Amino acid sequence: MQPTSNLDAYDSEISAAIHNETRRQAQTLTLIASENHTYPEVFETNGSILTDKYAEGYPGRRYYAGQQFYDEIERLAVNRAKELFRAEHANVQPLSGSPMNQAVYFGLLEPGDTILAMDLTHGGHLTHGAPASHMGRIFNFVRYRTRGARGEIDFDEVRALALKHKPKMVLCGHSSYPRELDYAAFKAIADEIGAITMADVSHIGGLIAGGALANPMDAGFDVLTTTTHKTLRGPRGGMIVCRQPFARKIDSAVFPGLQGGPHMHQVAGIAVAMKKAADAEFQAYARQVLANAKTLGEHLQQSGIPLVTGGTDNHMLVLDIAAGGFGDGAQAQMTLEACGLVTNKQLIPDDPNPPARPSGLRLGTPAVTSRGMRASEVQNIGELIAQALQGHPTQPIAEQVQSLAERHPIPGLALS
Ligand SMILES: Cc1ncc(COP(=O)(O)O)c(C=O)c1O
Repeated sequence: MQPTSNLDAYDSEISAAIHNETRRQAQTLTLIASENHTYPEVFETNGSILTDKYAEGYPGRRYYAGQQFYDEIERLAVNRAKELFRAEHANVQPLSGSPMNQAVYFGLLEPGDTILAMDLTHGGHLTHGAPASHMGRIFNFVRYRTRGARGEIDFDEVRALALKHKPKMVLCGHSSYPRELDYAAFKAIADEIGAITMADVSHIGGLIAGGALANPMDAGFDVLTTTTHKTLRGPRGGMIVCRQPFARKIDSAVFPGLQGGPHMHQVAGIAVAMKKAADAEFQAYARQVLANAKTLGEHLQQSGIPLVTGGTDNHMLVLDIAAGGFGDGAQAQMTLEACGLVTNKQLIPDDPNPPARPSGLRLGTPAVTSRGMRASEVQNIGELIAQALQGHPTQPIAEQVQSLAERHPIPGLALS
């Protein structure tokens, strides 16, 4: 029993915007590393009756009546999260990635405590202590950077900063870093100073769940956070898994510390996405995302477009547009968008340019892989990107992009 929709008749402006956005996504290619196409089943949970109800509290300990089915849904989501990430405890209530990280900091630390994390301008996230974020004002973030010709994390520097500043928490994870993380090295440094270890794997959560990348919980990490809408392909949301000694503090930091009622339609969608992620089909998907990123990277480099770190180990590529002589990242983003290739401009390590016109451009393969694209399609995309950046006429490229997109429909999306 689903509510009958009359949005078209009631609010034609919003309805038209949704139709137009559907068409835009269907006829273009999403190459934004943090985006993906979710499952029809998740659209179903998100548009369901679960939207209507408050479920403040946790299963068996709610504040309002009428919770039997919400308890069932949240227990399923929690158990699937624990199994998928091999963790002792899970909290699936964070409304998104930012509150998820805030809850961990507030739950396990005191204001003013020191956290060692990756610098935003070298690939870290805003919530990892960027001065513009409230977290940067509440906690004392010390930031490590990437270094050397390959632009990778320098563990000598991470260790030196850890020994000097004695952070209470060592945090790894990134929004713009195309290399695999050495979790054992982070853990060894944290152990030397008795710090808590946290991995924010928001970008690569699905690749870890699908067994394509290493799981920091296997390396003995205390806490792992991940958004659920990127490589995990679920609804927008956040999730925290941790070792048992941190469970109570993390739960109370999420609720009542930071949030009120969880969005249970989202929690149900997270449960569905994790059921999907446990399937062999998803493991093949995760491997294909990585293979596609490698193929795309090789193709771009052969076309004279340099990549930060010289390649990728994950789903993401950071192009050094300025070094390639193609202008800046903002111009490249605009040129590609005119061709139906949707990307985002990106700061690169030690970028001499400002954030609004950075030197780099970030690409990712999760969404095109969800549309069933493999090596030959991705090579084709690489060719079209190179042509667009080299100044070939827009129209023929845009036509080829649209044709490629229409031959690979977004799963479960009907165009009316
Ligand atoms: C590493 C990392 N952490 C946290 C977040 C925050 O997620 P949200 O945008 O859902 O708040 C992101 C989002 O891009 C991210 O990349």
